[in-house]
Amino acid sequence: MNVSGKKAVVFGGTSGIGLATVEKLVAGGATVVAIGRSASKASALPAGVSFEACDVRDGDAVAALLSKHAPYDILVSAATGGDRALGPFLEMDMDGYKGSFDKLWGYANVVRFGAAHVADGGSITLVSGAPARNCRPGQIALSSVGGAVEAMVRAVAREVAPRIRVNVMSPGSIDTPMVAVEGEARTKLYANMTAGNLIPRAGTPEECAHAIMYLVENDFVTGTTVDVDGGWVLREG
Ligand SMILES: NC(=O)c1ccc[n+]([C@@H]2O[C@H](COP(=O)([O-])OP(=O)(O)OC[C@H]3O[C@@H](n4cnc5c(N)ncnc54)[C@H](OP(=O)(O)O)[C@@H]3O)[C@@H](O)[C@H]2O)c1
Repeated sequence: MNVSGKKAVVFGGTSGIGLATVEKLVAGGATVVAIGRSASKASALPAGVSFEACDVRDGDAVAALLSKHAPYDILVSAATGGDRALGPFLEMDMDGYKGSFDKLWGYANVVRFGAAHVADGGSITLVSGAPARNCRPGQIALSSVGGAVEAMVRAVAREVAPRIRVNVMSPGSIDTPMVAVEGEARTKLYANMTAGNLIPRAGTPEECAHAIMYLVENDFVTGTTVDVDGGWVLREG
């Protein structure tokens, strides 16, 4: 697909990976609607991009918004959805573990209520995370949710083929506002998190958006996951 002249809807499009994707879609000539909960983040959007406030966890609101903007060619969700629990499973607060699945429920709303409005030949792209297939200590919630996102996409890809495509981009440690730490502590945090990776640095939102654009543009790719993780999935420990 050539995105020029196409319409895109991007959940989580006001920050980080989603925002970088919005920027690439706009640069490619697409018309874009970006969605997040907070209107204050909309000031980061490129000129001409429409903003809609919506919480992906609210199924009725997601369905209404997607219906309002239908039809569209490109549907992306990079919305984090909510908090994620960290730590060993055997010591974990179960409400925290279950709450981590808000990301999956948000993605499920986007796919369930959005797929029918994607024009023939269009695509849906979601974002999982490297712990889905190489879980480090303390990341079981991230791993469980990311794995569920990837499994959901493989299953849904079969249901919607060949009319539209569905794929996942899986990031490793990416330098985005999702990590609130600033200054030297931020530099150290990313250095520690990526030290064992084949490419020992944090990735950029643009590197992730590049992969999302590949998944959007390549009409022969569906039901798959593209890793943008500096070799995280091959690391030991
Ligand atoms: N950064 C990383 O290292 C990393 C690693 C692995 C996976 N990921 C995944 O990559 C995706 C993007 O992360 P990011 O780093 O780009 O995060 P980010 O910079 O914090 O951006 C998150 C975006 O999602 C929106 N959002 C969050 N919760 C939402 C909700 N309930 N409803 C609607 N919009 C919501 C945010 O806007 P509002 O807050 O205004 O709603 C914002 O636009 C997420 O799925 C994350 O789990 C990131």
